[in-house]
Formats: sequence, structure tokens, C-alpha cells
Amino acid sequence: MWCPLTQPGGPAVCRQWGRLVPARLVAVVLLMTAVAVLQLGAVLLMVDRRPSPSRPLAVRPPPVRRPASTAERRRRAAPLLHLHLAQVMRDLHGSTDMELVRAGRLPRPASCPERAVIPWAGGRAGNMLFEYLTAWAVALRHDVPFLVPDVMIETFEGVFAGMTAQRGDLDLLLMDCAHLWHGRRNISVATIQDVWEDLAPITGWLELVGFPTNMTRPIYRLWHAHEAQMRAELRFSAPISSIVHEYLRRVRRALGPDDEPVTFIGVHVRRTDYYQATYNLDGVWMNMPGAAYFERAVRHYQRRYPNTVFVVVSDDMQWCREQLAALDAVILFPGDAGNPPMLDLALLGHCNHTIITFGTFALSAAIMTGGDVVVPKDLGITWNSYERQKDFWPAQWTEISVL
Ligand SMILES: *[C@@H]1O[C@H](CO)[C@@H](O)[C@H](O)[C@H]1NC(C)=O
Ligand SMILES: *[C@@H]1O[C@H](CO)[C@@H](O)[C@H](O)[C@H]1NC(C)=O
Ligand SMILES: *[C@@H]1O[C@H](CO)[C@@H](O)[C@H](O)[C@H]1NC(C)=O
Repeated sequence: MWCPLTQPGGPAVCRQWGRLVPARLVAVVLLMTAVAVLQLGAVLLMVDRRPSPSRPLAVRPPPVRRPASTAERRRRAAPLLHLHLAQVMRDLHGSTDMELVRAGRLPRPASCPERAVIPWAGGRAGNMLFEYLTAWAVALRHDVPFLVPDVMIETFEGVFAGMTAQRGDLDLLLMDCAHLWHGRRNISVATIQDVWEDLAPITGWLELVGFPTNMTRPIYRLWHAHEAQMRAELRFSAPISSIVHEYLRRVRRALGPDDEPVTFIGVHVRRTDYYQATYNLDGVWMNMPGAAYFERAVRHYQRRYPNTVFVVVSDDMQWCREQLAALDAVILFPGDAGNPPMLDLALLGHCNHTIITFGTFALSAAIMTGGDVVVPKDLGITWNSYERQKDFWPAQWTEISVL
């Protein structure tokens, strides 16, 4: 039965309905509409939240962080421009005395070994590292004890934590083991092409003699063939690496929270003794790597890596500050010529890549670092194997002209 809502009168039931229906109907319709709206809203919200490949989840776009310009990064790094490693060492260990941060001592052999390899400790830290590594490899390959003389003990003991050498100090050689020491044979390291394979079986004591001037490629090959073992052998002791880590941490913090990780490039600038020594040997002055060489090397790395920081180590820091500080790059000078060499080596060794001039100190650091290496060419010297041997450097390294 149809009861018109708007008309009063009609059947009794309709009159009754007439009073009730509009209110009920309106209430029911309103309720249903509200439910429908809520359901539609919920469905729409769910649709909105469903991840879709073309539409990122976050409603707000992430903040755009542009890499800081070199000028801005230079400004941030300015307070650290001349922060010395020695200062960091004092902050951490309350002293700048290297003796105090050495950790551990090399053992002495229990008795005189029948067979042994002993390096000839010529030159300073860099040469000694090459000599050490050559003797280490020969001793390991032939499974004979490896004894190092006093001057190597003084240089390396407690600096590297994992050395497998034993003390071959003069007391031991001249008193306890004199007959074996006096009966030793020797071989010149310069004649070794392949440190791992070259030698005949070892009987008695063998001394490896001579400067390791053209050992770069053999040591580089050795490093890549036995990298894990060599890294373990030359692992810097905890107190020494803590100084370098703290220095690098301060640099990273000063540069601020850019998304790109910092790429550290160790720069070794050798200037004083090598120039004169080369003249003495060659009778001509070499072409020294100058500001132009370093600028090209810096650009080389800036093109390849973001967020570069160049950390300079040198025997002539004043020249470096005068010539390199103005380059359009973040360049730091963490010391003076008087830095403990092993601390400088640890710093270079903890960087990611290297720029070097020459000499076994820098070559050791470059090899240990394991990254890219920039080396100079057109030095104009002939006494050394640099220009005589066309492939003096490992082929992977980048040569940049000093002219
Ligand atoms: C190497 O041994 C030879 C004898 O076999 C000796 O004449 C020479 O002086 C030794 N060289 C060094 C640097 O000890
Ligand atoms: C190093 O130089 C010496 C002398 O010139 C040469 O006999 C030797 O083969 C060279 N060694 C290497 C690894 O190139
Ligand atoms: C670069 O060197 C720093 C400092 O030693 C190190 O923390 C970082 O992992 C290195 N980066 C790469 C890519 O090896």
C-alpha cells in the first residue's frame, strides 16, 4: 500500500505511518548515507596507501641535499688545515713520544736456528720496509726463521702488531750464533725478479743485501699474490692506528654530513735529500715534481671521486703550504718535517688512494694502501731504474708528467 507522505488523511494505517515514516525514513537514509560515505572514505584511503611503482610512499618529498661545493668544504675544513698528528697523539695518549705508543716486542729465537734469512738493513724506513718484505717472503716460502737486525727492530718493533720476524740483534749474531752468522751466504736483492719463486733452496744462513731500488714491481706482485698475509704482517698496532683513525674522524666530522663518503688521498711530497742524491749519482739535476704536477694529480682524483680530501706528508712542509694550499681542493697539512716517519706512514696507509713522488717510503705506502696511485714521469734521471726500465711502475698506476 502506498501512503503518500505529503498528504494528510487516507487510510488509518497511512495516517499512522504518515506521522512515523518521514522521520524514520529520513533517519535510515541519513544513517545509510553516512555508512556509505565512511566506507568509501576508508576504501579511498586504502587505495591511497597501497604502494604503487609510479608513486612513492612518502607524501613529503625528501629534502634535496646537494653535495657541498669545494669552496664550502674548504671553509668547513679550515680549522683542521694545520691540525698535527702529534696534537691528536697528545690528545689520545698524553704524549708525543713514539716510544710510549709502541706495543709489543719481537721474540728472540729460543736457540740458534740451523737455517735463517736475514735482511740487510740499509737506508731508512722505506728501504727497510722493502728489505723486510723481501726477506719475509723468502723466509715464508722456504719455511725458515726470519731474523731482523737491531736497526729494523728499532724502526718497526711495536709499530706493526703482526710481525712474524724474530730478533736477530747483534748480541745474538755475534755471541750466541757467531759460527752460523760468520758462515752466512748473501744474495743481492737487486737480482731477484720474483721474490716468491726465484731462490734456490736455502741451506744455512742467508743474508739479503743491497738497496731495494728496483723492487717496486716484485713487491707489488708479491702484495697482490699474498695480500691477506702481508696486511696481517704490516698491521699497525692499536695505539698507532687509533691516532690516525681519530685524525680522519675529525676531518670527516668537520666536513659535515654530506651523503657521499669522504675519499682520502695521501700525498707524499719528497723534496730534500732525493734531489741532491740524484745529482750526486747522475751529474744532472732532475726535473722535480712541482705545483703543476700536484695540481694535475689532484684534478685526476677530483674527476674520479666525490668528496676528496688530500692529506699531505712531506720532508718540506713549508714548500707544500706555499705551493699547494691555494689549490681548489680540500688539502690538509697534518704535521711538520719532524713527524715520526712511522706515523706518517700509518696515515698514508689508511688513506684510500695515493699521489707520490719517488722513494721506497712512498712506494711502500702506495702499495699498502691498495688504491689508485699517481706517480710522476719525465723526471729526467737515468741512474735509477725509473727511466731506464720502461715498466718501472706497476702497469695499473697512473703516470702524470712533471713538465
Ligand atoms: C757477500 O758475500 C761475499 C762472499 O761470498 C762477500 O765478498 C761480500 O762482501 C758479501 N757482501 C755483503 C754486502 O756482505
Ligand atoms: C734491478 O736492477 C738490476 C741491475 O740493473 C738488474 O740486474 C735486475 O734485473 C733488476 N731487477 C728487477 C726486478 O728489475
Ligand atoms: C677510505 O678510507 C677511510 C679511512 O681509512 C675508510 O674509513 C673508508 O672505508 C675507505 N673507503 C673505501 C671505499 O675504501
